[in-house]
Amino acid sequence: MTSILEVQNVYSGYGKIEVLHGVSIQADSGEIVCIIGPNGSGKSTLLKTIFGLIKPKRGVVLFSGRDISLKEPEEKVGMGIAYIPQGKNIFPSLTVRENLEMGGTPLHDSRVIEKALQDIFQRYPVLEKRMKMKAGSLSGGERQVLALARASMVQPKLMLLDEPSLGLAPKVIEEIYERINAINHAGVTFVIVEQNARKALKSAHRAYVLDLGINRLEDTGERLLNNEEVKRLYLGG
Ligand SMILES: Nc1ncnc2c1ncn2[C@@H]1O[C@H](COP(=O)(O)OP(=O)(O)O)[C@@H](O)[C@H]1O
Ligand SMILES: [Mg+2]
Repeated sequence: MTSILEVQNVYSGYGKIEVLHGVSIQADSGEIVCIIGPNGSGKSTLLKTIFGLIKPKRGVVLFSGRDISLKEPEEKVGMGIAYIPQGKNIFPSLTVRENLEMGGTPLHDSRVIEKALQDIFQRYPVLEKRMKMKAGSLSGGERQVLALARASMVQPKLMLLDEPSLGLAPKVIEEIYERINAINHAGVTFVIVEQNARKALKSAHRAYVLDLGINRLEDTGERLLNNEEVKRLYLGG
């Protein structure tokens, strides 16, 4: 296995506020990597730093061995990195179809975009059925599916997901993770940040606990799920 993402000793934050104090994570190609940790521990900041929305003050981010620490998000999208932020990750006033078309913008050619759109509709019939509806009228779960599909338009190699299960009912979370697992089986690597961690840990090949901007623990998802300390501190007993 080769490592597709390496975050090495990254320090990052907002202006003078340092949030990450030397965080390191790794994702091998084809893995689902999960990062859990309490609210405010720096999970979203880590994903923003990997995607280039904020730049690390120290440390490096390597993508397929290449230093991308200081590159802009658009360039990272072009290299095959997709980022789905926490919460507002679709355009509610646009239709489902328009949202997907926007996801395809980096493909430039309208025929290529149309082809990608048809592929997506095949894999996500629920979106085809709703393609003329405003995205804002979808249920929370459908919106999350749309966000995943929208990011899939450009066939990324690495997907960064910030709390994909936030605010969703357990059954819907189950469905979202089935989708994630299916995309992963097709070869896409995931780095997923979650506060509600059980489901994510079940899917994870590798998992990290982040706390107060530093690495606390690293193990397989399975083992962290059964770790007494993790259960007590991060999974609500
Ligand atoms: N835009 C921002 N400006 C200043 N501080 C921020 C900003 N966003 C987040 N923070 C702070 O960074 C810390 C980590 O936040 P975040 O990365 O969102 O944590 P998590 O995603 O684990 O809940 C928190 O203390 C938060 O208040
Ligand atoms: Mg967050």
